[in-house]
Amino acid sequence: MGYPGNDNYWHEVQEAAAYLQSQITGSPEIGLMSGTGLGGSTASMAVDFEIDYADIPHFPVSTVVSHAGRMVSGRMHGRYVMVMQGRFHLYEGYPPGAVTFPVRVMQALGVKTLIVTNAAGGLNPEFAPGDIMAIVDHINLTGENPLVGTNNEDWGVRFPDMSAVYSPELIQLAGNVAEKNGLRMKKGVYVGLKGPSLETPAETRFIRKIGADAVGLSTVQEVIAAVHAGMRILGLSIITNINDPDRPEPATVEEIIGVAKNAAPFLAQLISGVAEEM
Ligand code: HPA
Repeated sequence: MGYPGNDNYWHEVQEAAAYLQSQITGSPEIGLMSGTGLGGSTASMAVDFEIDYADIPHFPVSTVVSHAGRMVSGRMHGRYVMVMQGRFHLYEGYPPGAVTFPVRVMQALGVKTLIVTNAAGGLNPEFAPGDIMAIVDHINLTGENPLVGTNNEDWGVRFPDMSAVYSPELIQLAGNVAEKNGLRMKKGVYVGLKGPSLETPAETRFIRKIGADAVGLSTVQEVIAAVHAGMRILGLSIITNINDPDRPEPATVEEIIGVAKNAAPFLAQLISGVAEEM
């Protein structure tokens, strides 16, 4: 796979998109990118096509056990939705261009709204495990950016504006849907790190101080590419554990996945409601 500045990269994106378009029966309007333990957010969808990433031309292959590595498409309340079950992380060794490849395929297929979900550690003392947090903004501390390199003007501008990345309208809509369904939705700033090591107490203190409410190892690369692509974005985190720098407790991946899986049906309900009312 090429890197984003290389013509070959865009050619590969287009080949992957053309292949998928030849298989699916609609024009995807919404893209859903699901995170750790959250691959099941498609319960309310009338699925018409499923494919392993490995069978899509040029697609990177997911290496994380909790990620299915499948693309599923179909209708949700009449809207054609494309779901990426499983994402690629910088910590797996993928370059930013691979992490954002699925978003570029969505762009090529005409997706206008991206919903990203993830599992995140809670930093805000008012958060509890199992909470859903709508991302209102992010801080990219990965040290990487998917737009580095020659800019391809056909896909987006050189210096994308980042003043309103997460759509206030979609956050409002998600809040209304949550309320209607008796779900509590928090709001906050997500900080994206590279990982894979989790945070030391001093790092947790630092990221809290700079204004973060939740921390995770994904999302920001895809979101930057989606902004470049001109998409409207809704980001939803499941708070799987609480990071308190004054009372540090070991966090385990099993626990993180377990909490995310338990919260997945609520997240699915929220996403379905958003798709219905947007
Ligand atoms: N840190 C980083 N990523 C995470 C965490 C965490 O505590 N929980 C879930 N993803």
